Amino acid sequence: QDVRLWGGRFADGPSEALEKLSASVHFDWRLAPYDIAGSRAHARVLHKAGLLTAEELHQMTAGLDRLERDVADGTFTGTIADEDVHTALERGLLERLGPDLGGKLRAGRSRNDQIATLFRMYLRDHARIIGGLLADLQEALVGLAEAHPDVAMPGRTHLQHAQPVLFAHHVLAHAQALSRDAERLRQWDARTAVSPYGSGALAGSSLGLDPEAVAADLGFEHGSAANSIDGTASRDFVAEFAFITAMTGVDISKIAEEVILWNTKEFSFVTLHDAFSTGSSIMPQKKNPDIAELARGKSGRLIGNLTGLLATLKALPLAYNRDLQEDKEPVFDSCDQLEMLLPAFTGMMATLTVHRERLAELAPAGFSLATDVAEWLVKRGVPFRVAHEVAGECVQVCEREGVELDELTDEQFAAISPHLGPSVREVLNVPGALAARDGRGGTAPSAVAVQLGEVKADLAKQ
Ligand code: ARG
Repeated sequence: QDVRLWGGRFADGPSEALEKLSASVHFDWRLAPYDIAGSRAHARVLHKAGLLTAEELHQMTAGLDRLERDVADGTFTGTIADEDVHTALERGLLERLGPDLGGKLRAGRSRNDQIATLFRMYLRDHARIIGGLLADLQEALVGLAEAHPDVAMPGRTHLQHAQPVLFAHHVLAHAQALSRDAERLRQWDARTAVSPYGSGALAGSSLGLDPEAVAADLGFEHGSAANSIDGTASRDFVAEFAFITAMTGVDISKIAEEVILWNTKEFSFVTLHDAFSTGSSIMPQKKNPDIAELARGKSGRLIGNLTGLLATLKALPLAYNRDLQEDKEPVFDSCDQLEMLLPAFTGMMATLTVHRERLAELAPAGFSLATDVAEWLVKRGVPFRVAHEVAGECVQVCEREGVELDELTDEQFAAISPHLGPSVREVLNVPGALAARDGRGGTAPSAVAVQLGEVKADLAKQ
């Protein structure tokens, strides 16, 4: 028996080469539960339109339930000859209900509106899964901030010592980025809650079906597609999903890069837990940050999935084109990779040992309090232009003498500028420098406590 959904006008069957090229069942099989849910909803609107009797609807639904169970336990699977998940499931239904009833379900729908709908359903489910895993990572970061509320570290720009900041402040900066990624997923989900079912191949259906009823049935909160051509042909929802997952990967890669640096002998800011690091096959002493490196590497892959997809979509004429079959593997991969990466990455972050003394010791290094000298002068009426010069000269003298800013003598300060009295030393300490930056978003312990509260409140909402 020919399983193809389109054999009627062909005298010959497909060549083996075509069959191989055309098949998607090996990657779209994961959409099977969504396809069956769509079929159930479709059967109900066929009944509503008078195209299935109540008895037929009853049998159809029972057949779909049976098929769903057989798919779930592996009794029924698609094969290459089925081409795609839709064709395979139609074969499964025909096998269970016979051709007379089984052959009625396809009326008024096309694989084009089916795939556009199922793909949305699948990605919406995975947006929620990824959102949950992202929240776990945010919680691990919040845990780090809470465990070390008062530890200073060298804040950097250009990877050079810049100004001391609180470790918690730094960690919460990453949490902010992740919470925007989570917000993007939620906003994307709301935009994607529109069902293309009922759009048919492109033009809608002549059978009096009710797309709004299908949309409600399948949990699409914003109803059915406003335009059936757009409903079947648009994939910006896929591209946007690929962007959000790529952005998330990039944000994670930034944390990863720091963990890799922090875990070196030179930095010695953190130690990784044994359960979340790896060894070397030749060097017995090695303990490597593989999770962080894989995170860094996977971000490249996630970017590739986005750019590949955009290239596929570029310049496609309306409406459905078979090119669109290439839209699934990249984002399925993005889901798989993030869902694999996030639990490992969260585990690594949650079990980091933070070397507080080392962080604190380096916080004032690299003359990172020079800005405080300049701002101390500004508070005494010195124009910032001049204050900047004066503080810069202090650094020059320190470098020449091989001392730190707070080790300059009263005479050296006075020689640099008459404005620099001995009391400048009151700002040449890290706790003072931190506490002074108490405006919104700043690094003062009081300001960081506010940020922590906000991140936690945001997490509680998710
Ligand atoms: N496997 C196809 C896809 O992924 C389903 C739609 C097929 N439609 C068609 N007209 N051949 O896009």
